[in-house]
Amino acid sequence: MNFYALIPAAGSGSRMGGAIEKQYMDLNSVPMIAHAMMVLAREPRLSKIFVVLSPTDKRWNNYAWQGWEERIEVLRCGGTTRAETVLNGLQAMSNICAADDWVLVHDAARPCLPDDMLGKLLDEVADDPVGGLLAVPVADTLKRAAADTSNGARAEATVPRAGLWQAQTPQMFRHGKLVEALRAAGSDMTDEASAIEQLGLQPRLVESDSRNLKVTYPQDLELAGLILGKLNE
Ligand code: CTP
Ligand code: MG
Repeated sequence: MNFYALIPAAGSGSRMGGAIEKQYMDLNSVPMIAHAMMVLAREPRLSKIFVVLSPTDKRWNNYAWQGWEERIEVLRCGGTTRAETVLNGLQAMSNICAADDWVLVHDAARPCLPDDMLGKLLDEVADDPVGGLLAVPVADTLKRAAADTSNGARAEATVPRAGLWQAQTPQMFRHGKLVEALRAAGSDMTDEASAIEQLGLQPRLVESDSRNLKVTYPQDLELAGLILGKLNE
C-alpha cells in the first residue's frame, strides 16, 4: 500500500482578485504552491506528489523546479471546478496508483500545514477503513443571515456550533473509492469528504488548528506569511 499526494492547482483565485493565479502569488519569496509542495515532500511516507495544473497554465514553466523532478509529477488536466480537477488528476494517476493506495488531496492554497499535523493525519487514518481529513471544531458563534438584505446583512438566528467542524486539507482517501465517490457526486463538491459522505460513509475527523488556513482573500496572504515565519523559526 502506497501513499500519494495530489495538489489541485488549476484555480484562478477570483476572490483574491490578483493579477496572477493565487497558487503562483509570492509568499515569503516563493510561489505559494511551493510551500504546500515542501511540506508534502518532507514526509517520507509519501512516494510521489502529483500537481494538477490547468491545461492552459502558462506560469509553471517560468519557475526553476530543479531538484523536484524525483518527487513531483505535473499533470495538465485541471477542470473548471476543484472537484473536476481532482477527479481528472486521479484518473491520470490510475496507471501508477492501485485502488487501495491512499491519496492525500491538499490545496495549493494551504501553505502553512505544519509537518506534525500531516504526520498526525497519516498516523490516525492509515488504518481507517474509510479515510479522513484534517478539520477544526468551530470556535466562533455562528449567525444565519436573513434572506432579505434590503436593510443590509441582518442576523436572523444563531446556529448551534456543537458538533460542527471546519474542513481543511489534506483529505485522505483510497484512490479507487475516491474516484467512485467523485464520479457519483458531480462537479460542485468543494471537498473530497463530501463526495465520500454521499456514499453513506463517515470520514474520520482529525483535529487540526487554524494555522493550516486556506488563503482565499488578500488579507489571508499576510497572515500566512506570519504563520510561515513562525513555523520556520
Ligand atoms: N482549484 C483547482 N481547479 C479549479 C478550482 C480550484 O485545482 N477549477 C484548486 C485551487 O487552485 C486551490 C484549491 O483548489 O488550490 C482550493 O480552491 P480555492 O481556494 O477556491 O481556489 P480558487 O478556486 O483558485 O479561488 P476562487 O474560488 O477564489 O476563484
Ligand atoms: Mg474556488
